Amino acid sequence: MKPEVLIVAAMMRRVMDTLASEFTAHRLWEATDQAALLASVGPRIRGIATTGGRGAEAKLIAALPALEIIACYGVGTDAIDLAAARARGIVVTNTPDVLTDDVADLGVALLLAASRRICEGDRYVRSSAWLKGDMGLTRKFSGSKVGILGLGRIGQAIARRCAAFDCAIAWHGPRAKPDVPYRFVPSLVDLAKESDFLVLSCPGGAATRNLVDRRVLDALGPEGILVNVSRGSVVDEAALVAALAEGRLGGAALDVFVDEPRVPPALFAMDNVVLQPHVASATVETRGAMGDLVINNLRNHFAGKPVITPVR
Ligand code: 8YV
Repeated sequence: MKPEVLIVAAMMRRVMDTLASEFTAHRLWEATDQAALLASVGPRIRGIATTGGRGAEAKLIAALPALEIIACYGVGTDAIDLAAARARGIVVTNTPDVLTDDVADLGVALLLAASRRICEGDRYVRSSAWLKGDMGLTRKFSGSKVGILGLGRIGQAIARRCAAFDCAIAWHGPRAKPDVPYRFVPSLVDLAKESDFLVLSCPGGAATRNLVDRRVLDALGPEGILVNVSRGSVVDEAALVAALAEGRLGGAALDVFVDEPRVPPALFAMDNVVLQPHVASATVETRGAMGDLVINNLRNHFAGKPVITPVR
């Protein structure tokens, strides 16, 4: 008998098709009555496939008494209640490495989009504003000072790309790393103060919640630009909106938000803000590789083999 798996949120179609062919798969997000679906199939569910944004909260885990594995289609596990999983010995897997290039690429794209105002330029041409005169000047990115919050795999990939733009790179995180060629700054406020751009590439979750607050934003200042490819929760979003509205922050380029897909409407009218719908890993290639990891982790687990990318 095929193991029963609950797909909690939508993934790339090929990935969901493979899950449906290899397992008995139920699609939670599509159910009109999710509680009823959980009540009927919950006792038989042995695996969850979920996304980084949706995760798996304690209540969902509790509704699945036979759950053995949570396979996350994403690297960030902040939306998964890891303590609840650990308490029941449930294996958790994620998709590190395969998405690093894409997330770093989007980070650089946002740095350039915000500094060179690429989206504004596009709107300028489409609206025929150009016929009335040239657009204003923008800001140079090459050779600028880039601060990075979180120098894990993704942060380091962003740093390598920024080095190719001759940027001066410094970073902040919970502890210094002796093996990286970038300068560690022990205080996030100090890093923001010295940076033209502050890029967020740290994990989400309790340890980083609202780390980028009013003090950090004010230190980045009216010429500074914030780029976020990590989690919306890392930023005090109300403080960010206020800093932008009051001209205390130069600009922002954001792929992630506190309450996705809801975005503070105040940001919509700001030309110095670039908005993306959480797409840093959303290429055909990378979502395919992430999906393969989800599938192979589930396959291995149900075949009694070690999973490939466990979250420890
Ligand atoms: C995806 C992500 O958005 O890896 C993560 O942590 O946030 C993403 O790559 C997501 O998991 C896919 O829906």
